[in-house]
Amino acid sequence: MRWEQAWHEALYGPDGFYRRHAPAEHFATSVQGIPGAGEVLAEAVVALARRHGCSRLVDVGAGGGELLGHVAALAPDLHLTGVDVVDRRPAGVHEWLVSPGGAALPDGLAHLSDALVVAHEWLDVVPCPVVERDEDGVWRELAVAADGTESPGRVLTRAQDAEVLDWLVRWVPDGVRRAEVGLPRDRAAADLLGRLDRGVLLVVDYGHDREDRPVDGTLTGYRGGRQVPPVPDGSCDLTAHVAVDSLVSHLATLFPDVRCRVSTQAEALADLLPGAGAPVPHELARREPTAYLRALGRRGALAALRAPGGPGGFRWLVAPRQ
Ligand SMILES: C[S@@+](CC[C@H](N)C(=O)[O-])C[C@H]1O[C@@H](n2cnc3c(N)ncnc32)[C@H](O)[C@@H]1O
Repeated sequence: MRWEQAWHEALYGPDGFYRRHAPAEHFATSVQGIPGAGEVLAEAVVALARRHGCSRLVDVGAGGGELLGHVAALAPDLHLTGVDVVDRRPAGVHEWLVSPGGAALPDGLAHLSDALVVAHEWLDVVPCPVVERDEDGVWRELAVAADGTESPGRVLTRAQDAEVLDWLVRWVPDGVRRAEVGLPRDRAAADLLGRLDRGVLLVVDYGHDREDRPVDGTLTGYRGGRQVPPVPDGSCDLTAHVAVDSLVSHLATLFPDVRCRVSTQAEALADLLPGAGAPVPHELARREPTAYLRALGRRGALAALRAPGGPGGFRWLVAPRQ
Protein backbone atom coordinates (compact mmCIF):
# COMPACT_ATOMS: atom_id res chain seq x y z
CA MET A 1 0.00 0.00 0.00
CA ARG A 2 0.99 3.62 -0.40
CA TRP A 3 2.12 4.97 2.97
CA GLU A 4 -0.69 7.51 3.13
CA GLN A 5 -3.34 4.83 2.71
CA ALA A 6 -1.65 2.35 5.09
CA TRP A 7 -1.26 5.11 7.69
CA HIS A 8 -4.93 6.02 7.47
CA GLU A 9 -6.07 2.39 7.81
CA ALA A 10 -3.69 1.77 10.70
CA LEU A 11 -4.95 4.73 12.75
CA TYR A 12 -8.58 5.22 11.65
CA GLY A 13 -9.67 1.99 9.93
CA PRO A 14 -12.35 -0.17 11.59
CA ASP A 15 -9.73 -1.68 13.92
CA GLY A 16 -7.43 1.35 13.87
CA PHE A 17 -5.11 2.40 16.66
CA TYR A 18 -7.15 5.48 17.67
CA ARG A 19 -10.42 3.53 17.70
CA ARG A 20 -8.94 1.21 20.36
CA HIS A 21 -6.51 3.44 22.29
CA ALA A 22 -6.55 6.85 23.93
CA PRO A 23 -3.35 8.84 23.28
CA ALA A 24 -2.51 8.97 27.01
CA GLU A 25 -2.09 5.18 27.05
CA HIS A 26 0.89 5.50 24.72
CA PHE A 27 2.57 8.90 24.85
CA ALA A 28 2.68 12.20 26.71
CA THR A 29 1.77 15.55 25.21
CA SER A 30 1.66 19.04 26.68
CA VAL A 31 -1.92 18.39 27.81
CA GLN A 32 -1.39 15.02 29.48
CA GLY A 33 1.45 12.98 30.91
CA ILE A 34 3.60 15.86 32.23
CA PRO A 35 2.63 16.63 35.86
CA GLY A 36 0.76 19.94 36.08
CA ALA A 37 1.34 20.83 32.43
CA GLY A 38 -2.25 20.31 31.28
CA GLU A 39 -3.48 22.83 33.84
CA VAL A 40 -0.93 25.44 32.72
CA LEU A 41 -1.70 24.88 29.06
CA ALA A 42 -5.41 25.25 29.85
CA GLU A 43 -4.67 28.60 31.54
CA ALA A 44 -2.97 29.78 28.36
CA VAL A 45 -5.79 28.55 26.16
CA VAL A 46 -8.38 30.29 28.35
CA ALA A 47 -6.30 33.50 28.19
CA LEU A 48 -6.32 33.27 24.38
CA ALA A 49 -10.09 32.67 24.36
CA ARG A 50 -10.62 35.72 26.61
CA ARG A 51 -8.34 37.88 24.48
CA HIS A 52 -10.50 37.19 21.43
CA GLY A 53 -13.83 37.37 23.27
CA CYS A 54 -14.67 33.71 22.62
CA SER A 55 -17.48 32.06 24.53
CA ARG A 56 -16.82 28.55 23.22
CA LEU A 57 -13.89 26.23 22.97
CA VAL A 58 -13.74 23.36 20.48
CA ASP A 59 -10.92 20.85 20.83
CA VAL A 60 -10.30 18.93 17.60
CA GLY A 61 -8.35 15.75 18.24
CA ALA A 62 -9.31 15.99 21.88
CA GLY A 63 -7.98 12.52 22.82
CA GLY A 64 -9.36 11.72 26.26
CA GLY A 65 -10.64 15.29 26.68
CA GLU A 66 -7.85 16.15 29.10
CA LEU A 67 -7.42 19.75 27.94
CA LEU A 68 -11.19 20.33 28.02
CA GLY A 69 -11.37 18.87 31.52
CA HIS A 70 -8.78 21.38 32.77
CA VAL A 71 -10.54 24.24 30.96
CA ALA A 72 -13.89 23.20 32.50
CA ALA A 73 -12.37 23.55 35.97
CA LEU A 74 -10.84 26.96 35.17
CA ALA A 75 -13.54 28.59 33.07
CA PRO A 76 -16.97 27.05 33.69
CA ASP A 77 -18.58 29.81 31.60
CA LEU A 78 -17.02 28.53 28.34
CA HIS A 79 -19.10 26.12 26.26
CA LEU A 80 -16.89 23.09 25.59
CA THR A 81 -16.96 20.74 22.61
CA GLY A 82 -14.65 17.78 22.05
CA VAL A 83 -14.08 16.22 18.63
CA ASP A 84 -12.37 12.86 18.20
CA VAL A 85 -12.90 9.45 16.63
CA VAL A 86 -14.15 8.01 19.94
CA ASP A 87 -16.32 9.77 22.54
CA ARG A 88 -14.17 9.98 25.67
CA ARG A 89 -15.70 13.10 27.15
CA PRO A 90 -14.85 13.90 30.75
CA ALA A 91 -17.21 15.62 33.19
CA GLY A 92 -17.87 19.29 32.44
CA VAL A 93 -17.66 18.94 28.64
CA HIS A 94 -20.95 19.91 27.04
CA GLU A 95 -20.76 18.23 23.68
CA TRP A 96 -18.68 15.68 21.79
CA LEU A 97 -18.63 15.13 18.04
CA VAL A 98 -17.44 11.79 16.72
CA SER A 99 -15.15 12.29 13.75
CA PRO A 100 -14.20 10.03 10.84
CA GLY A 101 -10.50 10.67 11.60
CA GLY A 102 -7.41 11.84 9.72
CA ALA A 103 -8.08 14.77 7.40
CA ALA A 104 -11.86 14.26 7.56
CA LEU A 105 -13.98 16.20 10.04
CA PRO A 106 -17.57 15.57 11.15
CA ASP A 107 -20.39 17.35 9.31
CA GLY A 108 -21.72 18.63 12.64
CA LEU A 109 -18.65 20.81 13.01
CA ALA A 110 -19.84 23.85 11.07
CA HIS A 111 -20.66 27.56 11.36
CA LEU A 112 -18.72 27.98 14.56
CA SER A 113 -19.06 31.43 16.02
CA ASP A 114 -17.21 33.17 18.87
CA ALA A 115 -15.20 29.98 19.21
CA LEU A 116 -11.59 29.22 19.94
CA VAL A 117 -10.91 26.07 17.94
CA VAL A 118 -7.86 24.19 19.22
CA ALA A 119 -6.09 21.50 17.22
CA HIS A 120 -3.44 20.30 19.63
CA GLU A 121 -1.30 17.62 17.98
CA TRP A 122 -3.97 16.81 15.41
CA LEU A 123 -2.19 17.60 12.14
CA ASP A 124 0.81 15.38 12.90
CA VAL A 125 -1.54 12.36 12.81
CA VAL A 126 -3.20 13.38 9.54
CA PRO A 127 -1.73 10.85 7.08
CA CYS A 128 0.14 12.14 4.07
CA PRO A 129 2.18 10.77 1.17
CA VAL A 130 5.71 9.69 2.05
CA VAL A 131 8.15 10.21 -0.80
CA GLU A 132 11.81 9.51 -1.41
CA ARG A 133 14.31 10.44 -4.09
CA ASP A 134 15.79 7.42 -5.87
CA GLU A 135 19.46 7.16 -6.87
CA ASP A 136 18.71 9.31 -9.95
CA GLY A 137 17.17 12.03 -7.78
CA VAL A 138 13.65 11.22 -9.03
CA TRP A 139 10.81 11.39 -6.48
CA ARG A 140 8.94 8.15 -5.82
CA GLU A 141 6.05 7.58 -3.46
CA LEU A 142 7.05 4.96 -0.89
CA ALA A 143 4.98 1.82 -0.42
CA VAL A 144 4.85 -0.12 2.85
CA ALA A 145 3.88 -3.63 3.92
CA ALA A 146 1.88 -4.40 7.09
CA ASP A 147 5.11 -5.29 8.90
CA GLY A 148 6.61 -1.88 8.09
CA THR A 149 8.90 -3.02 5.27
CA GLU A 150 9.16 -0.22 2.74
CA SER A 151 9.71 -0.39 -1.00
CA PRO A 152 10.07 2.33 -3.60
CA GLY A 153 6.69 2.89 -5.22
CA ARG A 154 5.95 4.45 -8.56
CA VAL A 155 7.74 7.48 -9.91
CA LEU A 156 5.77 10.72 -9.41
CA THR A 157 4.80 12.15 -12.77
CA ARG A 158 3.59 15.55 -13.91
CA ALA A 159 0.58 13.86 -15.50
CA GLN A 160 -0.64 12.24 -12.27
CA ASP A 161 1.04 14.07 -9.42
CA ALA A 162 1.41 17.70 -10.47
CA GLU A 163 0.27 19.12 -7.10
CA VAL A 164 2.59 16.89 -5.11
CA LEU A 165 5.55 17.68 -7.38
CA ASP A 166 4.80 21.40 -7.18
CA TRP A 167 4.67 21.09 -3.39
CA LEU A 168 8.03 19.31 -3.34
CA VAL A 169 9.66 21.92 -5.59
CA ARG A 170 8.39 24.75 -3.43
CA TRP A 171 8.85 23.32 0.04
CA VAL A 172 11.65 20.75 -0.04
CA PRO A 173 15.25 21.83 -0.57
CA ASP A 174 17.74 19.85 -2.66
CA GLY A 175 19.56 18.03 0.12
CA VAL A 176 16.42 16.34 1.47
CA ARG A 177 16.18 12.64 0.56
CA ARG A 178 12.82 11.75 2.08
CA ALA A 179 9.78 13.84 2.97
CA GLU A 180 6.19 13.75 4.13
CA VAL A 181 4.11 15.81 1.70
CA GLY A 182 2.20 18.41 3.72
CA LEU A 183 -0.73 18.94 1.31
CA PRO A 184 -3.31 16.82 3.23
CA ARG A 185 -2.45 18.68 6.46
CA ASP A 186 -2.68 22.07 4.72
CA ARG A 187 -6.09 21.15 3.31
CA ALA A 188 -7.34 19.69 6.59
CA ALA A 189 -6.40 22.88 8.47
CA ALA A 190 -8.07 25.01 5.79
CA ASP A 191 -11.19 22.86 6.05
CA LEU A 192 -11.22 23.44 9.80
CA LEU A 193 -10.66 27.19 9.47
CA GLY A 194 -13.48 27.35 6.90
CA ARG A 195 -15.89 25.96 9.51
CA LEU A 196 -15.20 28.93 11.74
CA ASP A 197 -17.42 31.95 10.95
CA ARG A 198 -15.97 34.08 13.72
CA GLY A 199 -13.31 33.26 16.29
CA VAL A 200 -9.78 31.90 16.35
CA LEU A 201 -8.06 28.74 15.19
CA LEU A 202 -5.10 27.60 17.26
CA VAL A 203 -2.92 24.85 15.80
CA VAL A 204 -0.20 23.47 18.06
CA ASP A 205 2.22 20.88 16.78
CA TYR A 206 5.83 19.98 16.24
CA GLY A 207 6.97 21.28 12.94
CA HIS A 208 9.67 22.39 10.56
CA ASP A 209 10.22 24.95 7.82
CA ARG A 210 12.01 24.71 4.50
CA GLU A 211 15.35 25.74 5.98
CA ASP A 212 15.28 23.04 8.64
CA ARG A 213 13.35 20.34 6.79
CA PRO A 214 14.76 17.03 8.12
CA VAL A 215 16.86 15.23 5.49
CA ASP A 216 15.23 11.83 6.12
CA GLY A 217 11.71 12.88 7.08
CA THR A 218 10.14 12.44 10.51
CA LEU A 219 7.63 9.60 10.22
CA THR A 220 7.78 7.53 13.41
CA GLY A 221 5.70 5.41 15.77
CA TYR A 222 4.81 5.49 19.48
CA ARG A 223 3.67 2.57 21.56
CA GLY A 224 3.47 2.12 25.31
CA GLY A 225 5.44 5.29 26.05
CA ARG A 226 8.28 4.42 23.64
CA GLN A 227 9.26 5.66 20.22
CA VAL A 228 9.13 2.66 17.84
CA PRO A 229 9.64 2.09 14.11
CA PRO A 230 6.55 3.12 12.13
CA VAL A 231 4.61 -0.08 11.41
CA PRO A 232 1.12 0.37 9.93
CA ASP A 233 -0.52 -2.58 11.70
CA GLY A 234 -2.67 -0.63 14.17
CA SER A 235 -0.38 -1.42 17.10
CA CYS A 236 1.20 2.04 17.40
CA ASP A 237 0.60 5.70 16.77
CA LEU A 238 2.03 6.97 13.46
CA THR A 239 3.07 10.60 13.36
CA ALA A 240 5.19 13.02 11.35
CA HIS A 241 6.09 16.66 11.99
CA VAL A 242 4.11 19.39 10.26
CA ALA A 243 5.51 21.57 7.45
CA VAL A 244 4.55 24.85 9.12
CA ASP A 245 5.61 27.25 6.35
CA SER A 246 3.52 25.40 3.80
CA LEU A 247 0.56 25.39 6.18
CA VAL A 248 0.76 29.15 6.76
CA SER A 249 1.10 29.85 3.04
CA HIS A 250 -1.89 27.64 2.20
CA LEU A 251 -4.12 29.34 4.79
CA ALA A 252 -2.97 32.79 3.65
CA THR A 253 -3.84 31.93 0.05
CA LEU A 254 -7.31 30.60 0.84
CA PHE A 255 -8.13 33.14 3.56
CA PRO A 256 -6.50 36.43 2.51
CA ASP A 257 -8.23 38.28 5.37
CA VAL A 258 -6.77 36.02 8.02
CA ARG A 259 -3.40 37.06 9.42
CA CYS A 260 -1.73 33.95 10.84
CA ARG A 261 0.74 34.42 13.65
CA VAL A 262 3.32 31.71 14.30
CA SER A 263 5.42 31.50 17.43
CA THR A 264 7.07 28.84 19.51
CA GLN A 265 5.21 27.46 22.50
CA ALA A 266 7.75 29.15 24.79
CA GLU A 267 6.96 32.53 23.19
CA ALA A 268 3.22 31.93 23.23
CA LEU A 269 3.20 31.03 26.92
CA ALA A 270 5.31 34.08 27.81
CA ASP A 271 2.78 36.22 25.96
CA LEU A 272 -0.38 34.63 27.36
CA LEU A 273 0.82 34.04 30.92
CA PRO A 274 3.08 37.02 31.65
CA GLY A 275 5.00 36.71 34.91
CA ALA A 276 3.99 33.08 35.37
CA GLY A 277 7.62 31.92 35.49
CA ALA A 278 8.59 34.29 38.33
CA PRO A 279 10.35 32.69 41.32
CA VAL A 280 8.07 31.59 44.15
CA PRO A 281 8.86 33.64 47.31
CA HIS A 282 10.32 31.45 50.10
CA GLU A 283 8.34 33.19 52.79
CA LEU A 284 5.16 31.73 51.25
CA ALA A 285 6.36 28.31 52.47
CA ARG A 286 5.95 29.42 56.12
CA ARG A 287 2.74 31.36 55.64
CA GLU A 288 0.88 29.03 53.26
CA PRO A 289 2.76 25.78 52.69
CA THR A 290 0.08 24.27 50.40
CA ALA A 291 -0.02 27.37 48.19
CA TYR A 292 3.82 27.34 48.12
CA LEU A 293 3.93 23.74 46.90
CA ARG A 294 1.21 24.43 44.34
CA ALA A 295 3.10 27.46 43.01
CA LEU A 296 6.32 25.45 42.79
CA GLY A 297 4.50 22.71 40.88
CA ARG A 298 3.01 25.24 38.45
CA ARG A 299 6.40 26.83 37.87
CA GLY A 300 7.97 23.41 37.21
CA ALA A 301 5.19 22.53 34.75
CA LEU A 302 5.64 25.85 32.97
CA ALA A 303 9.39 25.23 32.68
CA ALA A 304 8.66 21.79 31.15
CA LEU A 305 6.27 23.36 28.62
CA ARG A 306 8.86 26.00 27.70
CA ALA A 307 11.85 23.63 27.54
CA PRO A 308 14.06 24.41 24.55
CA GLY A 309 14.52 21.38 22.28
CA GLY A 310 11.28 19.93 23.73
CA PRO A 311 7.73 21.27 24.09
CA GLY A 312 9.04 24.87 24.15
CA GLY A 313 9.89 24.53 20.46
CA PHE A 314 6.41 23.40 19.44
CA ARG A 315 4.76 25.76 16.97
CA TRP A 316 1.67 27.76 17.79
CA LEU A 317 -0.24 29.03 14.79
CA VAL A 318 -2.98 31.48 15.68
CA ALA A 319 -5.45 32.36 12.91
CA PRO A 320 -8.21 34.82 13.89
CA ARG A 321 -11.37 35.20 11.76
CA GLN A 322 -13.43 38.33 12.29
C1 LIG B 1 -1.59 12.93 18.98
S1 LIG B 1 -3.20 12.75 19.63
C2 LIG B 1 -3.41 14.28 20.50
C3 LIG B 1 -4.47 14.22 21.57
C4 LIG B 1 -4.60 15.48 22.42
N1 LIG B 1 -4.97 16.63 21.62
C5 LIG B 1 -3.29 15.75 23.13
O1 LIG B 1 -2.57 16.68 22.72
O2 LIG B 1 -2.97 15.03 24.07
C6 LIG B 1 -4.18 12.99 18.18
C7 LIG B 1 -5.66 12.83 18.38
O3 LIG B 1 -6.31 13.30 17.21
C8 LIG B 1 -7.40 12.47 16.95
N2 LIG B 1 -7.83 12.66 15.57
C9 LIG B 1 -7.23 12.27 14.44
N3 LIG B 1 -7.91 12.68 13.37
C10 LIG B 1 -9.00 13.33 13.82
C11 LIG B 1 -10.10 13.98 13.19
N4 LIG B 1 -10.23 14.06 11.87
N5 LIG B 1 -11.03 14.55 13.97
C12 LIG B 1 -10.93 14.52 15.32
N6 LIG B 1 -9.91 13.90 15.97
C13 LIG B 1 -8.96 13.33 15.23
C14 LIG B 1 -6.88 11.09 17.29
O4 LIG B 1 -7.94 10.16 17.43
C15 LIG B 1 -6.12 11.39 18.59
O5 LIG B 1 -6.95 11.30 19.70
